Amino acid sequence: MILELSNPSVCMKDPDRVQEVLQSMVKAGSNTLQVISDFDMTLTRFEFNGKRCPTCHNILDNSILISADCKQKLKGLLDTYYPIEIDSSRSVEEKLPLMVEWWTKAHELLVEQKIRKDRLSVAVRESDAMLREGYQLFFDHLHQHSIPLLIFSAGIGDILEEVIRQAGVFHPNVNVFSNYMDFDESGVLTAFKGELIHIYNKREGALLNTGHFQELRTRPNVLLMGDSLGDLNMADGVQDMENILKVGFLNDKVEERKQSYLDAYDIVLIKDETLEVPNALLHYLT
Ligand code: TMP
Ligand code: MG
Repeated sequence: MILELSNPSVCMKDPDRVQEVLQSMVKAGSNTLQVISDFDMTLTRFEFNGKRCPTCHNILDNSILISADCKQKLKGLLDTYYPIEIDSSRSVEEKLPLMVEWWTKAHELLVEQKIRKDRLSVAVRESDAMLREGYQLFFDHLHQHSIPLLIFSAGIGDILEEVIRQAGVFHPNVNVFSNYMDFDESGVLTAFKGELIHIYNKREGALLNTGHFQELRTRPNVLLMGDSLGDLNMADGVQDMENILKVGFLNDKVEERKQSYLDAYDIVLIKDETLEVPNALLHYLT
């Protein structure tokens, strides 16, 4: 039915269920569809030419806005906590406090750097940030069909907005839930606003934003895209959900994590740096 679902990167535990959900969503029509996507390592590439691509945090960490000493500390945090993030032998309960610790320490270090708001665009421009191949079609197609796209990220909202703005795809149908920076009157970073979003509290984040989901209540069909098991909760605020199709990018530690991804996501994309499959799904659904 959809040629791209036969790509070598595609794995599905229950292909019949995928077909059923797709058919039911086509029948309901594209005016009942909304897309909810994670940002880092879902809309952006995991690696390029054998080199890791940066997350929102890494864009700042690697930039000229951060001192050498602070860079080293942030790198230390990444080396400590990223292996925990992707460790399939630990439960979410075990990881959760450690993830809060990572985000809290990283944000404290960033705040110490007196980062200026007007320098963020330079940091993004000079970074190695890369949206996945096919991003233009993805964003433009959703915009053309007036399908709302919620980007739900435990990264940094100011940075991710700048990435999609510089790529020319920050269209009016895009909404962002993320960690936003708070600046003083002279434009210097003093804190992060609101409740912290980390990879394992997206459910709480979703439930805090009832207004957004209330506005979209006529769109009970959801295409969800993520790369972490924590991303599965991004649609928990959707009202009267009818169908959900979950697409998961499995970028790292493939063998250890494959079964848990197959159990949780309808479609698993293994080491696939493109948006070819999501684009094919959207083409089919609209
Ligand atoms: P996401 O929800 O958009 O995927 O963003 C979360 C990612 O950010 C997660 O994979 C871990 C990563 N991260 C860093 O790379 N550096 C940091 O300092 C922190 C706190 C998170
Ligand atoms: Mg991610």
